[in-house]
Amino acid sequence: MQIGPLFTSFLASDETEHLLDPNTIASNIKRLRLDKAGFGQIGGWQSGFMDPWGKELAPLTEIIWDRAKYLAYNLIKIRPEYKIRIDSAWANINDPDTVEQMHNNPPHLHANQFISFVYYAEAYEDCGRLTLSTPTSVQEYTMPRQMLSEEQNEFNCTRMMVWPKPGLLVAFPSYIMHHVEANRSGKTRISIAYNIALPHQNNEYAGGRME
Ligand SMILES: [Fe+2]
Repeated sequence: MQIGPLFTSFLASDETEHLLDPNTIASNIKRLRLDKAGFGQIGGWQSGFMDPWGKELAPLTEIIWDRAKYLAYNLIKIRPEYKIRIDSAWANINDPDTVEQMHNNPPHLHANQFISFVYYAEAYEDCGRLTLSTPTSVQEYTMPRQMLSEEQNEFNCTRMMVWPKPGLLVAFPSYIMHHVEANRSGKTRISIAYNIALPHQNNEYAGGRME
């Protein structure tokens, strides 16, 4: 019998600390907050859309851009004439131990985008895992968790957890529903998000929406 995965999504991860000091990016983002750029909000702060090639993010963008091209053209096999682009990049500072969660933490997906990246510039134990849920959510009804053994594989896994750590970069298809737990580390968590888009994905009417 031949058996293979059917309609598979991906989670890519890379520890980049040897390529870029996450403290450099963290200090750049903290400086923006101190300079009163972006938006303070309950539970933390968001930068607003940033220039990915500006001085705060350029070294990180180089790393992400390389991986975005690899995922698009080598893994997913987009034809080379269809050029991907960085649609948006923004920073999040999640303050610790707030009862209220930032608006981007409940389950959501990044509509009208192709690949989403998250980079952790500052992270601690219990600072809030990222959970990714299967787009085939009906699997969770047909395979109750208590019926499954501890042995997880691509045929029974419906959720993937990411434990943030400094320098960790993850990427996943933008249609994947994801959410973030509360930051209970007692320290701030700093993450940078990027959306990569295909040519037909145009968000000029999104009005600065941030996820
Ligand atoms: Fe998100």
